[in-house]
Amino acid sequence: MKMNLMFRLLLLSVAARSVEVKLSLRRVGARGSPQDHRAAAGSPGPPRDHRRALGCVDALAAEGRFTFTADGPRLHCGVFFIGEPTEVISVEFRALDIDCSRGDFVKVFDGWVLNGEIFPSKLDHPLPLRERYVDYCASSMRDRVWSSQNVAMMFFRIHTAGRGFSITLRKMTVPFPCNIIAQSPEGRFTMVIPHQRRNCSFSIIYPVEIQILDFKLSQSHSNDAPLQRSRAGCSAASDFVQILGGSIIDTSEMFPMADVCNALNGQTVQMKIGCDNIAVRMVSSGNYISAVSFRFRALHRHELHKFRENDVEDFCSSKQIKI
Ligand SMILES: *[C@@H]1O[C@H](CO)[C@@H](O)[C@H](O)[C@H]1NC(C)=O
Repeated sequence: MKMNLMFRLLLLSVAARSVEVKLSLRRVGARGSPQDHRAAAGSPGPPRDHRRALGCVDALAAEGRFTFTADGPRLHCGVFFIGEPTEVISVEFRALDIDCSRGDFVKVFDGWVLNGEIFPSKLDHPLPLRERYVDYCASSMRDRVWSSQNVAMMFFRIHTAGRGFSITLRKMTVPFPCNIIAQSPEGRFTMVIPHQRRNCSFSIIYPVEIQILDFKLSQSHSNDAPLQRSRAGCSAASDFVQILGGSIIDTSEMFPMADVCNALNGQTVQMKIGCDNIAVRMVSSGNYISAVSFRFRALHRHELHKFRENDVEDFCSSKQIKI
């Protein structure tokens, strides 16, 4: 499954050319299961970590220590980090040997950049875009940077063989994850925004069938005034859920496929979407505890085939700006 993700990323970034796409199908993260190294956490001493060399284009899903050493000029490198939906990620440099004066750089980005598109979109991230980059040439080396969501990435350029860096990747579970990229095309999730004025997306970078199981707006005190629900449809609602589809990862550029703004009362909303990326985006006014539950599964080959026959791919990508 995780091997799948690296393959998927490479497919999605083939058009990018910003990253050297080498079909070096490295395993994402660990050889063993997460329990393998967690089991050691109870014993004295540091947990046993995964350690391995990084490729110029790589993806990591497990905690551990990772080292990159250039074997020659490596000018367009990128490493994708991804945690479980409820996790955020930290990157700490243990060693950094690059020559900034020769044009080497190492930058960590709070989110993913794929084909020039970013996730989370500018609209949905708490920080302005330039504050989402940490440039290790411009700033003094910080101890540790934390991502705001379960994905982050690193860009680097190193001109000289033998130079490189070493990082430690750590993950932490957060109670209300906001903005998530799923590692797999199968799953079930409940996203909660507790009385905050913000918007959160759950993004699935595979064509899937998605089913919204529940959408609830509640208030923390039972004696609060009852909810005022708009009868004018979702356009007037301040709290709602959108299902988006597209071929890019920036949710602000994706197409709305369906809106849900009223309690489902046991009914579900179900759709098959043949796009490369599908997102569930919840818009929250801050007046409620908003919760949306959904599940998803990959489309089978024959289901995808049907979409292709009907030119759905063109529909998914027609908003993309092609130069
Ligand atoms: C959330 O999204 C809605 C609609 O897309 C937008 O009007 C609103 O300003 C956004 N809220 C925040 C806090 O960004």
